[in-house]
Amino acid sequence: MRPRVYVTRRIPEAGVRLLRECCEVSQWESDEAVPRAVLMDALRECDGVLAMLTERFDAATLDALPRLKVIANMAVGFDNVDVAAATARGVVVTNTPGVLTETTADFAWTLMMAVARNIVPGYRYVQEGRWTTWGPLLLRGQDVYGATLGLVGLGRIGSGMARRARGFEMRVLYHDAVRREDLEASLGIEFVPLETLLRESDFVSLHVPLTPETHHLIDRERLRMMKPTAILINTARGPVVDSAALDEALREGWIGGAGLDVTDPEPIPLDSPLLRRENCLIVPHIASASFRTRDAMAELAARNLIRVLVSGEPPETPVNPEVWERRRR
Ligand code: GLV
Ligand code: GLV
Repeated sequence: MRPRVYVTRRIPEAGVRLLRECCEVSQWESDEAVPRAVLMDALRECDGVLAMLTERFDAATLDALPRLKVIANMAVGFDNVDVAAATARGVVVTNTPGVLTETTADFAWTLMMAVARNIVPGYRYVQEGRWTTWGPLLLRGQDVYGATLGLVGLGRIGSGMARRARGFEMRVLYHDAVRREDLEASLGIEFVPLETLLRESDFVSLHVPLTPETHHLIDRERLRMMKPTAILINTARGPVVDSAALDEALREGWIGGAGLDVTDPEPIPLDSPLLRRENCLIVPHIASASFRTRDAMAELAARNLIRVLVSGEPPETPVNPEVWERRRR
């Protein structure tokens, strides 16, 4: 009996091909999220799911799906899954760390440079036919080279930012729940309290997972600590920033600008005032979206499913390895 798996979206073919070799695969063949009722219907018959970050798996969902053995999230973040509830029910959860690190750091860097140097306002200026002459005061921005970069979170992606910052001869400050003294010398970075980081950085880039501790980590009070010229970059999760406070900060000039790959909620409502702020660049959660990396994410998620359901090996990148360990005993 081949295990049954459900793929909740159209994904790179590389991942689906792996699954088809050894599983009965059904799929939501769309670029839009699968409706909840359709998902639940499909999953009742399935042993595993290759899921997107748009699918929520809470305790009630898991209780309704007693056959489900593994959730392979095609994302490094897994705040869409109640991992404690999954662990309690013996459901393996996996994510896709590692394969998207450099692509995501490249993108955070891109957002930072784009906001610093007015790429989108400049593009719009040309498109609107307002470019009449070279202007000594026209669209001046902030230097990245030699500036101070504050990294909130020093996991893989945060470290990737620190490596990039060396080429720009930046001073790099970081804050994390765990100090990484082992990395400080090689990356040339300095551990500081969050408040110091916010006060001294020209660019603040967020690289923490979304947890109850990081929800609204960047709130009104913390935005007020930042330099009036500072630029906030969020490629982590939208709710790490209090959106209403961010709008106030941009409107009142507490900070200089923001570059957001993630928002709260997603997608951002079209009436959000953030969309009308000239100094706020918002893109639709695409930091890991390179051809190569999305293939790698799809394949890793598929391999995790196959290991758990078919080959009986431990998943490559488990979120709750204890479930696997427990099951083997
Ligand atoms: C995307 O946001 C991811 O977590 O991989
Ligand atoms: C993500 O995987 C990170 O550790 O930054």
